[in-house]
Order: sequence, then C-alpha cells, then structure tokens
Amino acid sequence: MTESKAKLSVDGKDIELQVRGGTVGPDVIDIASLYKETGTFTYDPGFTSTASCESKITYIDGEAGVLLHRGYPIDQLAEHGDFLEACYLLLYGELPNKAQKADFDYRVTRHTMIHEQMSRFFTGFRRDAHPMAIMCGVVGALSAFYHDSTDITDPHQRMVASLRMIAKMPTIAAMAYKYHIGQPFVYPKNDLDYASNFLHMCFAVPCEEYVVNPVLARAMDRIFILHADHEQNASTSTVRLAGSSGANPFACIAAGIACLWGPAHGGANEAALNMLSEIGSVDNIPEYIDRAKDHDDPFRLMGFGHRVYKNYDPRAKIMQKTTHEVLAELGIKDDPLLDVAIELERIALTDEYFIEKKLYPNIDFYSGITLKALGFPTTMFTVLFALARTVGWIAQWKEMIEDPHQRIGRPRQLYTGETSRDYIPISSRS
Ligand code: SDX
Repeated sequence: MTESKAKLSVDGKDIELQVRGGTVGPDVIDIASLYKETGTFTYDPGFTSTASCESKITYIDGEAGVLLHRGYPIDQLAEHGDFLEACYLLLYGELPNKAQKADFDYRVTRHTMIHEQMSRFFTGFRRDAHPMAIMCGVVGALSAFYHDSTDITDPHQRMVASLRMIAKMPTIAAMAYKYHIGQPFVYPKNDLDYASNFLHMCFAVPCEEYVVNPVLARAMDRIFILHADHEQNASTSTVRLAGSSGANPFACIAAGIACLWGPAHGGANEAALNMLSEIGSVDNIPEYIDRAKDHDDPFRLMGFGHRVYKNYDPRAKIMQKTTHEVLAELGIKDDPLLDVAIELERIALTDEYFIEKKLYPNIDFYSGITLKALGFPTTMFTVLFALARTVGWIAQWKEMIEDPHQRIGRPRQLYTGETSRDYIPISSRS
C-alpha cells in the first residue's frame, strides 16, 4: 500500500503529514500529530472528509455504486448465499466451507432463545410503545442477563457475545412485535432456518399450524443480507465510539439501535413508506417533488439521497427485484404504493435538481413496500433493519477491540462560546 507526504503550512509553519493508501479507495492524510505540531484541530462535523478508522470489512465506492463485503460484491452474496453465510464472512473474513457453515448455523440456532425472565421485561412497556423503543430497552438489558460474556478482553467471550447477539435479535424483534399487537410470544424452533424462524416467531399463533412460505423466507433472508453492514455509517460509528470506552457489546449494540432509529438513517424505511402513503397517488407526485426541492420546506424525499452513494445504491436495485418477487408470490397485482414509488423514482431521476445533487433511491426506498407486503407494520421496519445490521455492528466492534492500537475515541471542538468571566451573585443580576 502506497505511502507519501502531504505538505501543510499553518501560520507560516510548514509541516509534512504522512499520506497512507489502502488496498482500494481514497488515500488518507494521517493528522494525528497535527495538534501537537501546529496547535490546530481539523474541523469536519459531518465527517464528510474524515476516515475514523482503518477497516477490512466493507468497502463502498459511492461514485460507482459498488458495495463489497470482505471483497465480495453484495449482489453475488445476495444471489448465491444466505444471511448466516454473510454473518460468518463479516465476522471471520472468509466464506465458510461446508463444515464451518454447518457448525456456525448450529451454534447460532442454539442461541436463539432468550432468558425466560426477559419475557417479563416486556410487560413494563405500554402496548402501544414503538417497537424500536422496546428494542433499545431490551437489548440494553441483555448485559444484565448475560454478564458472563461481557469480558471484552477474552476472545472466547467476545465470540460468545457476538453469536448471542446475532441469534437473539430475531427473537427479541419478534417478541417486540407480538407484544405490540397483543399476541402471545412464539418460541424459536431449531428445525427452521434463520429467516423462516423469524417469520414463524412473528406470524405463528397458538391456535393453528403456521407454515412458512419458502419464497417469502428467501426474500426475508435476502433483505437481511442487504442490511448487514455498510462501512462507517452513523450507527456503526456510534457502536465503535461506545465500544472504544470498553463498554460491553450489548450496551454498544443498544447505542447503535438508538442511532439507527433516526429518520435520516435507518428510520428512513418507515418514513419512506409513510411518505408514499401520504402522496397516495401518482397525480400528487409533482407537488411533493416541488416540496422536496424547496429549501424553505423541511420535506425531503425519504429513501432518496445518500452521504456516500452518488449513484444508484446497489442494494436498492436488489431490493426492487425482491419487491416484485414478493408481490408476485402474494398475488398482489397492483400495489398503489409501488405505482407511486416507481413513478416518483422515474420523475426524480429525470429532474435537474436530483440529477445535479446526485440523489438516487437508497436501500430504504423500496424496502418498506416489501416489508408491508410481508405483513409487517411500518413501526417494525427499522426493527428489521436493526436485526440485520447487528452482525455489521458486532463485526466492526470486534475489529476495533482486536486492534492493538485502539484508543478511546475523544474528538475535540471549535469553541465559539463565552470566554472566562466572573460569577455574579443573583442579588446583583438585573
Ligand atoms: C441509510 O451512511 C449509510 O451508509 C447509511 C445507510 C446504511 O446502510 O447504514 O445506507 C442507511 O441511512 C440510508 C439513507 C436513508 N435516509 C434517507 O433516505 C433520508 C432522506 N435522505 C436525506 O436526508 C439525505 O440524503 C441523507 C441524510 C441520506 C444524506 O445527507 P447528507 O449527505 O448530509 O446530504 P445533505 O443533507 O447535505 O444533502 C445534500 C443536498 C442538500 O441540498 P443543498 O443544501 O446542497 O442545496 O441534497 C439535498 C439537500 O437538501 N437532499 C435532498 C435529499 N437528500 C439530500 N433533497 C431532497 N430529498 C432528499 N432525500
């Protein structure tokens, strides 16, 4: 990997900074010595030009619309593999052979139950609590039940905690859904694969046999793969920062869930479907396109635009294909929301505003239509995103903890507040 120098002049003092290249993608200027050498900080609040870490897990080329997990293109992983294979790849760095895959599936499957006492935890929430609020609470409480795998210095405990998170998130997500709709919890079944088990825990009821539709289970599994990891996005950066203090992995994942909930991030899939419902008909699209372009109007096209992708999000293309497969399997001939989405995309991609700002559909644009067709309420959409992204958060957390140069993350600031001034007794204040 290349190394060179960058020259910088600050207040007449010339310094040289090391430039490092990766295997692919932009080089970085190592500014770690900048403050010591010049007494100045860099300033980049949205991290638009800042690499927060070195990583080997996921690579994104936003201009070309490329997404690689450990070097494998997302479309190939989504087409040929399953979610637990993608989990193994993200965690261990290589695709598993048959024996490794069978062992990993076996181990994950046998960690899917949660401590029975946790089921009483749910009764503390109002029935109408947003499932993401329940996820934040219950996942954060996992360290109260599984403190035997919170010693982050022990590689074995790190792996046990990783497996527990991947295995238990579907169970917790399904329980959040069942609690939300007032139905009894359904236990995981070891004879079902990961996605089928999740659908069964969500949609089975005690009064009759529930047979999982294999086409829908495959679509669910593919949706999990598409959401598994995505470089240093906001929630992953949150997990890394929380983990840099030595906090236990369950607490770090809970922090990631909280960050993902925002409508600018993982909450966009719920917001995008609500937006399509609000638009309602293709006749109303022009009004909403105008609103999205009006800087005085806070309305944005949810599911459109991306900090990194300045081309079509490769996941959105696969999601769109999955949407059509699910609607066809369910015999849904004309979904008015899909009609609005397709027409909205067509108009936006030909509009100068969106072209000039390189705004394309992202993964959240079509996912909501698919998840609604699968039977999930919009309040569950971000929960499903969190379920799938848990492996990415865990893999990135593990990579950071295992980095011998890892230190606590502690950014500085540009201070523009009051300078030092003396206290005034309240009797003397006007
Ligand atoms: C995810 O980071 C990741 O990898 C995230 C993610 C992952 O897998 O982890 O990919 C998942 O979060 C996808 C993004 C989901 N969010 C949305 O769909 C919400 C709608 N999108 C926007 O809020 C926005 O595009 C962001 C938040 C996604 C990106 O914001 P940026 O990079 O800070 O871009 P910006 O807000 O500075 O916008 C640049 C310009 C602005 O116009 P100007 O001020 O330059 O004139 O584009 C405009 C914005 O007003 N713009 C939009 C728009 N998105 C950006 N205008 C209308 N509709 C939009 N959706």
